[in-house]
Amino acid sequence: MTAYRIALIPGDGIGAEVLPPAQAVLAAVGRRHGLEFTYDSFDWSCERYLAEGAMMPSDGLDRIRHHDAVLLGAVGWPGVPDHVSLWGLLIPIRRGFRQYVNLRPVKVLDGVPSPLRGAGEVDLVVVRENVEGEYSEIGGRLGRGTEDELAVQEAVFTRKGVTRVAEYAYTLAEARRNHVTSATKSNGIVHTMPFWDQLVEEVAGRHQTVRTDKEHIDALAAKLVLAPERFDVIVGSNLFGDILSDLAAAVAGSIGVAPSANLNPEREFPSMFEPVHGSAPDIAGQGKANPLGALWSAAMMLDHLGHPEASGELLAAAFGALADGVRTVDLGGTADTAGYTRAVLDRMGVAA
Ligand code: NAI
Ligand code: MG
Repeated sequence: MTAYRIALIPGDGIGAEVLPPAQAVLAAVGRRHGLEFTYDSFDWSCERYLAEGAMMPSDGLDRIRHHDAVLLGAVGWPGVPDHVSLWGLLIPIRRGFRQYVNLRPVKVLDGVPSPLRGAGEVDLVVVRENVEGEYSEIGGRLGRGTEDELAVQEAVFTRKGVTRVAEYAYTLAEARRNHVTSATKSNGIVHTMPFWDQLVEEVAGRHQTVRTDKEHIDALAAKLVLAPERFDVIVGSNLFGDILSDLAAAVAGSIGVAPSANLNPEREFPSMFEPVHGSAPDIAGQGKANPLGALWSAAMMLDHLGHPEASGELLAAAFGALADGVRTVDLGGTADTAGYTRAVLDRMGVAA
């Protein structure tokens, strides 16, 4: 028996509704593969912010530093500005634990209609830089409230930061279809983006079997809609990767199915696994949330912990339930969160 201790952060809204299904399927797949998961749950959320003035305690990172992984639902709630929930919880974890790769696989699944006609064969991964770039605290505002009011925000691109995320993308492409598309905008953004291009080219030179396409972000957004099946690995800065991965998830049919991994590839710190979607206040508390994004994120956690077979089984059961026609409302079905989860567990041979 291999034991793992997981830090659980349900967060807000449907975050708390999609993690119990993930725990249930992890228990089921774990039983078959000799894996045991125990959880420490943390109430870090907007609710906590409203009650105590902070999303998490000041020693929050220390409390989860020695866990094997972090599983997160979603954070954000009306009444708390979104930058508070992001900068008070997600960004400190991503940066404090050097989770510099944000991995977002996108697939068109059997039983999930894509809004695009003929988007049959989409199977791509967005590799988003996760700790620097456009999401920086450097900058400021001057002359508040005056006619000359202004805001300046600096983007930070480092040789080390770009090189390591590009290395990750190229290595990943070597294990897939040997194709990397680099998202850039070096025609308009004349300092950081040419630097990005130069560093990606340096990394490309070390991976001769991989074909590279360099695309400006605007044209790339259009191509992702027109011909999503052409892409294998897309590598982008923090902002470009964020936008492209939501776009790609929508192309695949629903934000509710999209997973993500925030990886510290060196394993000095725990990595964090979370569905791409937010807390969905419009459907929270109604049992309607699609848990697939969370289940797929749990499968990515199994991969990261070194159990690709268990991960594959979990995904086969989750995708198989969809193909059988058991779908949540966001996918045009009638199943609720519990019903879809039951169908997945059934496929794993677990009596409900
Ligand atoms: P959202 O992803 O929460 O919801 C967008 C739409 O998709 C809504 O109509 C929602 O009902 C639907 N949806 C999302 N996930 C679903 C699921 N699993 N099953 C079925 N339907 C689903 O994005 P929104 O509305 O922009 O943000 C709501 C809150 O969540 C905000 O406070 C935002 O800051 C936060 N947020 C947090 C994220 C995170 O924790 N990583 C990511 C995105 C947003
Ligand atoms: Mg996003």
